[in-house]
Amino acid sequence: MRIPGPFVTFEGGEGSGKSTQLRLLAARLSADGHTVVTTREPGGTPGAEAVRRLLLEGDGDRWSALAELYLFLAARTDHVERLVAPARARGAFVLCDRFHDSTRVYQGLAGGLGLALVDRLQAPVLARARPDLTVLLDLAPEVGLARRARAGGGGRFERRDPDFHRRVREGFLELARREPERIRVFDATLPEAVLADEIYRTVRDRFGREP
Ligand SMILES: Nc1ncnc2c1ncn2[C@@H]1O[C@H](COP(=O)(O)OP(=O)(O)OP(=O)(O)O)[C@@H](O)[C@H]1O
Ligand SMILES: [Mg+2]
Repeated sequence: MRIPGPFVTFEGGEGSGKSTQLRLLAARLSADGHTVVTTREPGGTPGAEAVRRLLLEGDGDRWSALAELYLFLAARTDHVERLVAPARARGAFVLCDRFHDSTRVYQGLAGGLGLALVDRLQAPVLARARPDLTVLLDLAPEVGLARRARAGGGGRFERRDPDFHRRVREGFLELARREPERIRVFDATLPEAVLADEIYRTVRDRFGREP
């Protein structure tokens, strides 16, 4: 049987450089000859993208915290079943922009549902696809939100109060302290190219094998 392809997730607050670094890593891994599948959450499949619109559009208080959690998990389940797990089974490198740690932080640690509940409810979907490595881009929320504002972004989550964004940053760092082997923290204030080198080196060291 084929060895499942590596599953790498990118996490961090708004505007921390997740999408930029995912793109740069994908280009380097492809140049090395790997089959790379890039995707994002919430979304990645037609069903999950439909749920994404429910999650990211509308008023900040459109959903209760628990209703929101179930929507995220519905989207993740479709994404994992139809895209992530099959791609890994083919041996592809799967790079995903946000995954379960975002839920653990935004809904669990910063959003008030607590980590235990979130972990319990998402255990079944994680059993089908668990990240091997997580790139955490750590950045002061003011800096990330200013970058996003310049880039013209705007969504339900970034309109939350500054204290929420501080809890998000702290929440991600807390998860990294609990799982230092899986979650690697990078200083997102570094220039893009420097970060890209560091992330590539980390991935190569972890999954050092011929394509
Ligand atoms: N290392 C960096 N230093 C300075 N600016 C950066 C860096 N990386 C990305 N940027 C810029 O910051 C903005 C946000 O980057 P990017 O979209 O990659 O972040 P993101 O984490 O995916 O954001 P979002 O939360 O909106 O998805 C972009 O305008 C990007 O060009
Ligand atoms: Mg992004």
